[in-house]
Amino acid sequence: MADEVKKEAPANFKVTIDNITVEVAPGTSILTAARQIGGDVTPPAMCFYSKLKGSGGKCRTCLVEVAAGSTADPRPMPKLVASCRTNVMDGMIVKNITSERVQEARAGVVEFLLINHPLDCPICDQAGECHLQDLSYEHGKEGTRYEFKRRTFEKEDIGPYIQLHMTRCILCYRCTYVADQITDNRVHGILDRGDHAEISTYISKAIDNDFSGNMIDVCPVGALTDKTFRFKNRVWFTKPVDAHRDCDKCCGKVTLWQRGDDVLRVTSRKDEWGEVQSYDSKPGWICNTCRFDKKHAKDWVIEGPTTINRHSVISQGHYLGLQKPKETIAEVMGGREPKLLMDIHGISDVNKVELSELPGPATSKTFTPAPKGE
Ligand code: SF4
Ligand code: FES
Repeated sequence: MADEVKKEAPANFKVTIDNITVEVAPGTSILTAARQIGGDVTPPAMCFYSKLKGSGGKCRTCLVEVAAGSTADPRPMPKLVASCRTNVMDGMIVKNITSERVQEARAGVVEFLLINHPLDCPICDQAGECHLQDLSYEHGKEGTRYEFKRRTFEKEDIGPYIQLHMTRCILCYRCTYVADQITDNRVHGILDRGDHAEISTYISKAIDNDFSGNMIDVCPVGALTDKTFRFKNRVWFTKPVDAHRDCDKCCGKVTLWQRGDDVLRVTSRKDEWGEVQSYDSKPGWICNTCRFDKKHAKDWVIEGPTTINRHSVISQGHYLGLQKPKETIAEVMGGREPKLLMDIHGISDVNKVELSELPGPATSKTFTPAPKGE
């Protein structure tokens, strides 16, 4: 065509996050720009999931401070903004870990998320890979100021594969987006509003669609867990290995969670943000056959140990190429011996027992009870 107009590629925007400048394409969110930098600079995200359209904007854990809106208009934004839903502008200056306001607000958001969330970690299958657990360690308070009754729900059976614990749900909507976007028939959703809002199936239908198991992988907490793995083991005692099989429904690339040679659980592979990994720019969702029916090592071609980047307790397990420090503590501490660092007997009145001299682990019998009245 004679009048064809040549479209020029838009220039990249420069954005500075916690004093680190990156160049990103126009239309990129602050969160995605921060992920390009990586590490602590990246705000946490409980509801945003880059592979699910429409996700984000629900949980407010990703709040950041915009200290300068753009080069053209360098005024700061008066309120903190959700970084997953705010796009960068050229010359924008953003503060995340360098902003006290953000840290304070994030602690407040965590406190709100925990208002109704039960302290189930000791019995929850998600423990060790729960984003809310990580957030609570980073920003949470020891106690709660909440004085009212927590929400309770009628127990609901949503099918043979997925266990729903509604009290743990933080209403991030990720599972409903999975059902909408990658299964062919959504039978569950968020019913009611406000304090009454809950995940439920319409007229108690079972969720058994071929790709429904991916809801378990996207759930940031333990509200949706794998029924076939329930109470079988703690994730940090299992050995995650990458494996694949020829599957006619999905990519067939998974992580097997093994104990010895037993396959206790099959999940999709996760990236450093806890999201499902992509292959050739396509998210590697896995089908229910791979997830729930292939529970023998012989069903799979084992590739090797999974690398877990997140600061999860799993990555501190014995199996993942644990690297011992090259130097001893004495070398790191300028010649001081570990005994000097760890001997609490001299300063503590509580423990009068020399634990190192006991033949086995200490039990309650080791400690003589204090005489009554003291
Ligand atoms: S069940 Fe899990 S994924 Fe679904 S809305 Fe609740 S927290 Fe989010
Ligand atoms: S991740 Fe941004 S609001 Fe939830």
